[in-house]
Amino acid sequence: MIGDTPVPMTTLDRARALDAEDELAGFRDEFLFPSHPSGRAVYLCGNSLGLQPRATRQWVLRELEHWAEHAVEGHFRGERPWFAYHEFFAKGAAEVVGARPGEVVVMNGLTVNLHLMLVSFYAPTPSRYRIVIEAGAFPSDRYAVASHARLHGFDPETTVVELAPRAGEDDLRTADVEAFLAREGGNVALVMLGGVNYYTGQAQDLAAITAAAHACGARAGFDLAHAAGNLELSLHDWDVDFAVWCTYKYLNSGPGGVACAFVHERWASAPELPRLAGWWGNDPATRFTMPDEFVPQPGAAGWQLSNAPVLTMAAFGASLEIFGRAGMKRLGAKSRALTGFLESCLRGIDTDLLTIITPTDPAARGCQLSLRVAERGESVHEALTARGVYCDFRRPDVVRVAPVPLYNSFEDVWFFSEIVRECVT
Ligand SMILES: Cc1ncc(COP(=O)(O)O)c(C=O)c1O
Repeated sequence: MIGDTPVPMTTLDRARALDAEDELAGFRDEFLFPSHPSGRAVYLCGNSLGLQPRATRQWVLRELEHWAEHAVEGHFRGERPWFAYHEFFAKGAAEVVGARPGEVVVMNGLTVNLHLMLVSFYAPTPSRYRIVIEAGAFPSDRYAVASHARLHGFDPETTVVELAPRAGEDDLRTADVEAFLAREGGNVALVMLGGVNYYTGQAQDLAAITAAAHACGARAGFDLAHAAGNLELSLHDWDVDFAVWCTYKYLNSGPGGVACAFVHERWASAPELPRLAGWWGNDPATRFTMPDEFVPQPGAAGWQLSNAPVLTMAAFGASLEIFGRAGMKRLGAKSRALTGFLESCLRGIDTDLLTIITPTDPAARGCQLSLRVAERGESVHEALTARGVYCDFRRPDVVRVAPVPLYNSFEDVWFFSEIVRECVT
């Protein structure tokens, strides 16, 4: 047993009944699922790479045709001229994260965007220089913040503070982050956490952490790789300074897909912020007159460097269109039900080998559950893979699964947990 609360009904019939009631169930048919020799693939890896929407091909083909037909003139012709291509995505991308359109730009890759944001928002002084991250942050985040500490002449060892869960716990308590900032925030310049921890699946309370960071005079930025498209977010209202995220996970833009950045409207035109400049961030009115002086356009778009990667953005467009129809609110509600069902199914397995290290509070997680599998994590993962389940294994002992509300069903979840049951009992 991995829990002692009563287990709701978790039969196949119940799963099918929940699918029949699900008003978002039709979206599943808009995605392409991988095949598996067993005849049934259960894809629970949308936290790593989202599935391809059927419409993606058309969106990309449309740009290929536009290019074939208009060549360089494509920058200024057609329904979505490439000169302004990023502008067509701002509203949809902003809706996904609870931002205003001018606060979000689609550009580059996640880590590149993180570096651009750190250039602007990490402004250390001799008395305020520390960067707070969570222990077990994604390696790219750790490398990025350490490299900025070094760039400013600080030793990452004493500059980057990693806040860890309490002994014997897996998740970082918000109260502990708040207490740390209240106690030691006087020399903290930046708090930079993952919105959802990639390993544990814990969602941070971004509003509370932003407030605590601001209260001690620090700035707050977040890596939303595992949060965007997964959680209902309100970046604008929460007063977050900046955020970055990729779109190939929950946002289904395809491998290496273009990323996003959020810059709060308070910073829309902030000459005091240092920034790296490129022509695409320049005021579009003069961008093609090639002025000597860089005049950033207001808002997140002013952080652009290069012209838009149209083909990968087109792929993202196909998925954004689906998000626009489904809506984060409805997706959030289904996500809580689906992941709650997964948790109940797993809790019904009579074994000591499984522990869910993701918080049980639905407000402190998205759709991902991370399962610690004592003794045989790797072999359970192999068995799951052989049976057509796509999920992943993170050393030393965690299997991560993410039932994605856009395309996963309650039956998928039930099927997965039955295989887990066979493996551990
Ligand atoms: C939490 C998190 N941050 C950062 C990254 C790095 O993303 P990218 O390679 O797009 O820069 C990843 C990639 O999976 C991630 O999961």
